Amino acid sequence: MKLSCAFLQLSLAILYQVGHNQVLSLDNGLALTPPMGWMHWERFRCITNCTEQPNDCLTEDLIKSQADKMVSEGYRDAGYVYLSIDDCWMAKERDNKGALVADPIRFPSGIKALADYIHSKGLKLGIYEDFGKETCQGYPGSEFYLGQDAQTFADWGVDLLKLDGCNADVNDMKTGYEAMGEFLNHTGRPILYLCSWPAYVQKIAALSDYTAFKKTCNQWRNFDDIEDSWDSLYSIIDYYGSNQYNLSAFAGPGSWNDPDELIIGGFGLSPNQEMVQMGMWAMMASPLFMSLDLRDVQPESKALLLNKNLLAINQDPLGKQGLRLWKINKAEVWSKPLSKPGSLAVAIINTDNQGAPRVFHLSPAELGLPQVPKYNMTNVFTNKHDGPYMFSQSIKFIINPTSIYMVIAEPS
Ligand code: GAL
Repeated sequence: MKLSCAFLQLSLAILYQVGHNQVLSLDNGLALTPPMGWMHWERFRCITNCTEQPNDCLTEDLIKSQADKMVSEGYRDAGYVYLSIDDCWMAKERDNKGALVADPIRFPSGIKALADYIHSKGLKLGIYEDFGKETCQGYPGSEFYLGQDAQTFADWGVDLLKLDGCNADVNDMKTGYEAMGEFLNHTGRPILYLCSWPAYVQKIAALSDYTAFKKTCNQWRNFDDIEDSWDSLYSIIDYYGSNQYNLSAFAGPGSWNDPDELIIGGFGLSPNQEMVQMGMWAMMASPLFMSLDLRDVQPESKALLLNKNLLAINQDPLGKQGLRLWKINKAEVWSKPLSKPGSLAVAIINTDNQGAPRVFHLSPAELGLPQVPKYNMTNVFTNKHDGPYMFSQSIKFIINPTSIYMVIAEPS
């Protein structure tokens, strides 16, 4: 039923909006490096009782307050430009023309006015919908309304759509997500397209078609939601490490694997574990969507989010997703080639959570370094430059429990 509806909407769009000779693929020219921004979900969830939780309630004032901080605290200028509202922004019913409406109590000015405010700050607005009958939290989904919703978002001035896949048939997703991509293209407004489709089909080999994901989406979720804990964070890193050849081949300018939001500045990670997340999201060329309350950020967390070395690794124009070289005895090494010839980012993670720091003696070969006589290293967290080191020399690293050591290595 939904499948034929998606086809019907697609044909109508092609008939009425474009005409002919359109190629069915993403052609929005966006996301040449991993997108960066803020997303409300992990930190603010579906908090809609504003009497009970006025400070955390999902309202237009909350979104505006985060926008203001993105500018005044330097996040926008560091590259975090998307500000994305997730689930629970809508009223429970569409209007009498079938259009989506924002919750009138929490978003009284409407999304268009909010987009104007966001744009006036030099930021871009993201929004959430669901491909199925209802969103994951039970708000109206786009089933039967894909084309109309795409046009509504464009009319409002939306710059990013995260399309989830709750309450939908996985067999319809390829057609439906491709159709929505086309509808977005046909609005003429460049809208970054984030797909959750891969996360819903990834366990069904016949449906897990990364060529199609890449052709259709700028960024795609393919694993569980991140939660505010080390276990959740490491389960994602380990999933990427264990499936890296199936994932990294499809990442690059225009299209990115999305391991989910940054939980830095939340409640669940130690400072060392926050370093692991920021370091690994840089290594994996992951989209960087912070999910924290920007009105209340510890200086260490802010410094990490704005660390120039880490952002440069993440945003490196080569767009290579880093690979795990080895994982032995609760330690692992990852490597990411950078655009500067011979230059690599290298991360060593100590995943052991026993009390004391551990000592590692690692050879350049164990770090995946190319065989050059000498090289220099920059510690990305401290910006301390070391070297030159001889290729024959092992290096000692002392790494805290559940922590990371990360360098940029360059031929000397
Ligand atoms: C999940 C999604 C989360 C968040 C949530 C909202 O399916 O993965 O990132 O968007 O829905 O209900």
